[in-house]
Amino acid sequence: MDWGIKNRLSNIIKPETGRTVMLAVDHGYFLGPTTKLENARKTIEPLLPYADALMLTRGILRTSVDPEASIPIVLRVSGGASITGKDLANEGITTSIEEAVRLNVSAVALSIFVGTDYEHQTLLNLACLVNEAQPYGIPVLAVTAVGKELGKRDVRFLSLSCRIAAELGASFVKTYYCDEFEKVVESCPVPVVIAGGPKSGTELDALKMAYDAIRKGAVGVDMGRNIWQSPCPIPMIKAVKAVVHEKASPEEAHEVFKKNK
Ligand code: R5P
Repeated sequence: MDWGIKNRLSNIIKPETGRTVMLAVDHGYFLGPTTKLENARKTIEPLLPYADALMLTRGILRTSVDPEASIPIVLRVSGGASITGKDLANEGITTSIEEAVRLNVSAVALSIFVGTDYEHQTLLNLACLVNEAQPYGIPVLAVTAVGKELGKRDVRFLSLSCRIAAELGASFVKTYYCDEFEKVVESCPVPVVIAGGPKSGTELDALKMAYDAIRKGAVGVDMGRNIWQSPCPIPMIKAVKAVVHEKASPEEAHEVFKKNK
């Protein structure tokens, strides 16, 4: 692997543990002012000391994160659809590689929509992005999106999507947790992180999901709503870190959450 790609990836996936807690705050790119992200800076800033990387768009990066913040950036560079539009899968590349270099990012991220009318378009987006990012040593994170069809998150679909993402050159993949998640990881030759998905019933539920994902081979989480939509976001990210980096059980991590509340 190219030195630059390895170096940037090691900013995100910490070599000390081989794991990562990425904080996802890119939701506005198709959801607009998502609950608790209306004022992005207010939500993001207190969490920065605890996250290994921040996933967001250039607009929120420029307006809501100080350039002095030393957090590695995973820049979302796909978009072009909204929750009110015809089809969430109809995405293109929104941000140039020059812009990613200018913003000194550690990786660029885009969504692929396998099995949709826009499968071909979004897979070519991925392939082209890899072609453009590789010469600059910038890793590409592929997100195996499902749009509004949350029911699609099963082992067959996610294994297919993750494997295709890796085959097209993604350096790492973000997907959902599912039953038999180990099969998704085993058949994907690049590191896998999980999204948190919509806010779980309890903090413990989200911690259990993170724990199971790690146990079954994920290198970490790229979590959003289950952290910053929690009534206690800082205790929650500390608890997630305990699971991911310190091998805490969900119950031990829940104690971390309660103690920091
Ligand atoms: C969705 O496409 C976005 O990329 C989010 O970053 C992703 O879903 C992770 O956030 P959450 O944990 O809220 O699902």
